[in-house]
Amino acid sequence: VKKRHITIITVFPELHTTFTQTSLLGRAVQDGLISFSFLALSDFVPPKKRIDTPSCGPGAGMVIKADVAQAALEKAYELHGKGATIFFTPQGDVLDQPRVKAMAEELLLSDEEEACQAQGTNDAAQHLILFCGRYEGVDARIEDAYADYRISSGDYVLMGGDLPAQIFLESILRYMPGVVGKKASVENDSFSSHFLDWPAYGQPVAWEGRAVPEVLLSGDHAKIDAWRKDDACKRTLEKRFDWLQKQELSDEDCAYVAKRLPSHYAVLMHDQVLIGKTEKKPGTTSVTTIDVHDIARSCATYGIKKFFIVTPLTEQRRQLDVFFRFWHTSKGQAYNVNRFEAMSLVQVCASLDDVEAEIERLEGRPAIKVATSAKQHTETAVISYRDQGVVFAQQRPVLVLFGTGQGMVDSLIAECDYVLTPVRGFTSYNHLSVRCAVAIVLDRWIGLGR
Ligand SMILES: C[S@@+](CC[C@H](N)C(=O)[O-])C[C@H]1O[C@@H](n2cnc3c(N)ncnc32)[C@H](O)[C@@H]1O
Repeated sequence: VKKRHITIITVFPELHTTFTQTSLLGRAVQDGLISFSFLALSDFVPPKKRIDTPSCGPGAGMVIKADVAQAALEKAYELHGKGATIFFTPQGDVLDQPRVKAMAEELLLSDEEEACQAQGTNDAAQHLILFCGRYEGVDARIEDAYADYRISSGDYVLMGGDLPAQIFLESILRYMPGVVGKKASVENDSFSSHFLDWPAYGQPVAWEGRAVPEVLLSGDHAKIDAWRKDDACKRTLEKRFDWLQKQELSDEDCAYVAKRLPSHYAVLMHDQVLIGKTEKKPGTTSVTTIDVHDIARSCATYGIKKFFIVTPLTEQRRQLDVFFRFWHTSKGQAYNVNRFEAMSLVQVCASLDDVEAEIERLEGRPAIKVATSAKQHTETAVISYRDQGVVFAQQRPVLVLFGTGQGMVDSLIAECDYVLTPVRGFTSYNHLSVRCAVAIVLDRWIGLGR
C-alpha cells in the first residue's frame, strides 16, 4: 500500500498536532505509512483581515469566505497533488461502519492505477484533503465546487469539523495495513459484521464479586466461538435491533437471529372492540375470511408462531370450524400448499384469556402484550419501532394485539404492557384496514430491510 499524505484545512491547526503524534496514528507517521500537514485558514488572508463574513440574508451567523477556502484548497493541491477532498458537515453522509469501510477501500486500499484514474488524476487516492468547517460552515459554493465527499460524524451539531475529521481518521485508518496490528481485531468489531462485538473480559477472573463467564476459561475454542456468536447476536437484538434490520443477512444469519428472537404471536380481536359509526360503543365484530387469509400470510412471512382469532360468538366459531376443516387438512394442502402453511398458524379462541393461557402452555411463560392502535394512548407505556430491545431483553414471548371495528376498547389497551405508536403517513387520513396494519406493524417490528 502506498503512503498517504493527509492535509487538514482548519481554523485551529493546533487541535490536530498532538492527535496526529499520539498512539497508533503517531506510530503510523513514524513508520512512514502516512504524513500530515495542516493549513490554517488565517494564513490565506492578509494580516488583520477576517476569514469569515456574515451569511447572506436575514439571521445571524458567519460563514468561512469562499475565496479564503479556495486559496487554502488550491494550496493543498499545489503542495501534494489533487486528491480526494472531504468536507465535514452535519448535512453529509453519516459515518457508519459500512461507509467507513467503503471509504477506506476507495481512499486507502486502492493502489491500482485504474482506481486512481477513475478519480481523474494519477495520485487522487494518495492525498486526502480534510476541510473542517466552523461558524455556520463554509460558503455553500465551495462545497459544491470542491467536495468529493461530504461527511457527518453523526446526527448532532458540533462547533467545528475538527473532531469529525479526527473521528474520520481514527475510523478509516484502522483499515490501512500496518496501522492496527491485528487484522482480526478490526474484522470482529461491532458493526463490521452483522452483530455487535462480543464482550471483552480481562484479568482478574473474579472482580468485585463478578466472574468472567466460565466458558471463556474452558480452553475449548469451538465452544468459545459458539458462545461468543450467540452472545453477540443476543446483544445486537437487545441493543441495536435497528442495525440488524438494516443488514443484508445471509440465510444462515437470518436463521441464527430467528432462533434468538423471542417467540412472537398475534391476535385479531373481534371482541372488546368499538363498533358503530357515530356513537362508538364496545361490542363484537364478524370474522372475515379475507382477514384470516391475508393476516395468516403476513404472520408466516414474519415468523409469527401462531395467529389467534378471538371471537366470543359460538356461531362464528362454528363457521370457522367448517372453514378450517378445509384449510387445516390435506384438502387445503392439495389446493394451495403456501396458503395451507400460513393457515396452519391460525387458532380460534373464545377469549383473550384463552389465548394467553395457550401461549403460557406452549412457552412456559406468560406473554408480554403489545397493543396496536390508530390513536395515541397514555394509559399504557408507549413504545416505538426502535424499542424492540426493551421487549426482547425480557426473554418472554410477545403477543401483538390487533383490533377490528373501530379498534380495541381503551380498557383492553390499558391491560397491555405496551402500546405501539400509530402507523401514520404524512397525511391526516388514519383509516388503515387491519390486514394492512398487521403487515406494516410486523414489518417495522421484526422485519428486515427497513
Ligand atoms: C455549528 S456547525 C454549522 C452547522 C450548520 N449550520 C448546519 O446546521 O448544518 C459548524 C461546523 O461544524 C462542523 N460540524 C458540526 N457538526 C458536525 C457533524 N455532526 N459532522 C460533521 N461536521 C460537523 C461542520 O464543519 C460545520 O460547518
